[in-house]
Amino acid sequence: MALQRIVVRGGNELFGEIPISGAKNAALPLVAAGLLTAETLTLDNLPELADVGFMLGLVEQHGAEILRGPRHVEITAGTITSTTAPYDLVRKMRASVLVLGPLVARMGEAKVSLPGGCAIGTRPVDLHLKGLEAMGAKIELVDGYVHATAPKGLKGATIRFPFVSVGATENLLMAASLAEGETVLDNAAREPEITDLVQCLQAMGADISGVGTERLVIRGKASLHGARYSILPDRIETGTYAMAVGVAGGQVELVGARPDTLEDVIDVLNRSGVEVTPTTRGMKVKRNGHRVHGVDVMTQPFPGFPTDLQAQMMVLMATAEGAAMITETIFENRFMHVPELARMGANVTVHGASALVRGVPKLKGAPVMATDLRASISLVLAGLAAEGETVVNRIYHLDRGYERVEEKLGAVGADIRRLTE
Ligand code: UD1
Repeated sequence: MALQRIVVRGGNELFGEIPISGAKNAALPLVAAGLLTAETLTLDNLPELADVGFMLGLVEQHGAEILRGPRHVEITAGTITSTTAPYDLVRKMRASVLVLGPLVARMGEAKVSLPGGCAIGTRPVDLHLKGLEAMGAKIELVDGYVHATAPKGLKGATIRFPFVSVGATENLLMAASLAEGETVLDNAAREPEITDLVQCLQAMGADISGVGTERLVIRGKASLHGARYSILPDRIETGTYAMAVGVAGGQVELVGARPDTLEDVIDVLNRSGVEVTPTTRGMKVKRNGHRVHGVDVMTQPFPGFPTDLQAQMMVLMATAEGAAMITETIFENRFMHVPELARMGANVTVHGASALVRGVPKLKGAPVMATDLRASISLVLAGLAAEGETVVNRIYHLDRGYERVEEKLGAVGADIRRLTE
């Protein structure tokens, strides 16, 4: 792939509307869920992202037939031809581990390479593995691969997570849907993407209760059937563009946004002086003239402030009047954007898991380097507020999670373009 960079010239306010795409973090488990049935799973409102392409490539490699249309895919895993998820595919994206639960549950066996993905902390998968073990799978780690076997099938179990994990909840939800008997997932993640997965599994015939709570009860079925499901709008993309308007100023309607999936973020934005109001089509975001105020945030599992908006929030706070303390409780090492923002004139001091951001009146454009997905977009946002030109290098991560970012921001007046060498 050619080397690409994004060039932003700061100073333009944003006016108009931005359409919100389907949620990446809902699409990935939903594609993996296609492996649970021999019938066709049709997904609508599919975001067009590199990560979604990787996941479809992975399930195809396991034997599924993929029929892709615009914002739409049909996945038919009539027969599973391979239960191995090879390193070459898994290393590109950590969420590949989500095929583990469906494959063991349906085939009694799976071999999945240990995942790579964004370099934000060590990010182990021990909770996924312990859960499968509790359901009767034998787990071995051989040459960088997790080999899970359950020749007689998985059995229902009561699993209490020591802390909240989105991925482990998803993997075990899928596995439990085809296990024998009842599984209880306690201290389960409650993210809207989990609810999306539960609703899709229910449409496929799964028996799950407790949707939206921290206790999910799954009564396993011998098989699931096909279904058609529309993926929920991306709350992280929504929050990102809301913060873009906060950073640049102006007024933009985020069309298709679901404000009920972002209540904590909307509250933080309103308190900072960025006005967010729900509309019949989504939500409207506005900042006129005045600077935003510093507001402290701490990342938490849903319904708390999402870690995936932490870097963008830091950019908003970088130009605030006053200071803000931003505390990251989900991932270690998720402040990699800080040295890059400092190159643009932000005043940020990191103390362990907290970053003290002292607002400055103006950021300055600079060449910067994108590290992980959310750090990349935060640099683009910083560029919108900066004097002069910001060149964001190594934007490969950006395309994993943001659909046509330069088109969406360009359409509301940002001076932004992609350079390909
Ligand atoms: C998902 C999201 C990611 C988001 C994160 C937290 C997808 C594809 N990705 O990632 O964008 O930032 O939720 O909202 O949906 N952990 C363990 N052992 C495990 C599993 C997790 O120690 O077996 C730790 C992780 O290292 C992390 C914390 O638990 O510190 C939460 O991780 P988790 O919720 O599992 O995140 P992901 O599902 O990987």
